[in-house]
Amino acid sequence: MAIEIKTLAQLKLMRIAGLLVADTLELIKNAVAPGVTTKDLDKIAAENIKAGGGIPSFLGYHGYPATICTSVNDEVVHGIPNDKPLKDGDVISIDCGAIVDGWHGDSAISVGVGQITSEDQKMMDACAQSMWAGIAAAKVDGKLTDLSAAIEKSINASGKYGILRDYGGHGIGTEMHQEPHLLNFGVAGRGPTLVAGIALAVEPMITRGSHKVRTLDDEWTVVTQDGARAAHTEHSFALTPDGGIFVLTAKDGGAAGLAPFGREISALL
Ligand code: MF3
Ligand code: CO
Repeated sequence: MAIEIKTLAQLKLMRIAGLLVADTLELIKNAVAPGVTTKDLDKIAAENIKAGGGIPSFLGYHGYPATICTSVNDEVVHGIPNDKPLKDGDVISIDCGAIVDGWHGDSAISVGVGQITSEDQKMMDACAQSMWAGIAAAKVDGKLTDLSAAIEKSINASGKYGILRDYGGHGIGTEMHQEPHLLNFGVAGRGPTLVAGIALAVEPMITRGSHKVRTLDDEWTVVTQDGARAAHTEHSFALTPDGGIFVLTAKDGGAAGLAPFGREISALL
């Protein structure tokens, strides 16, 4: 399947889905605390997506049983919400996707529960920072792996982290997962040429140990093999018809995250 190129009108629809995901993640972030269960967080997500006129995109996706993914400590991605209370010092990644009028938004945050160690905070910051570096590297007439190289470089500049090999970002639009697949490492200048109307979900996944992971018997939860803690951060963004950039799942369109890279966001969306 070819890369789906969106018109400005279609990107405006994707922005509505993106904002619903952003609002939902903000609600969840504010609810994260010791004693709260990941099922409690899932309920918040389900209710908010419904109230916003959206459909949870994860629920039923290849049989996935919940609205969000909640991945705690050594869980990297695709953790299934459960009844276990979060503990002080845990780190959790929350991944959320919603469909509004047929258009998808997909975003994830990593947050600490209560008081966390500076090492865990640094890992989460490194992960988010690399996501912004990747997005900032995207431009019309550039190449897909410009993002991969920028993500990897940013992670390595932050410290010693494992970067997952078999998971990455993806095109997004009328489906959650579209072409192209976006690696979180590699050399710049390869892959498809980036054009206005492309929309990508950028999602670095890093660990404080080895990059090696395995999937639990629940067939979803991806955990580190060495038990090291992990972080995962994701935003969906688009290149706009004016040659600009806009982060569809960021409340501010990515203005704050992209500013350190000298990128302004498009005024079109
Ligand atoms: N949001 C994840 C991604 O970024 C996918 C979640 S998998 C699901 O690719 F099964 F939970 F939907
Ligand atoms: Co995604």
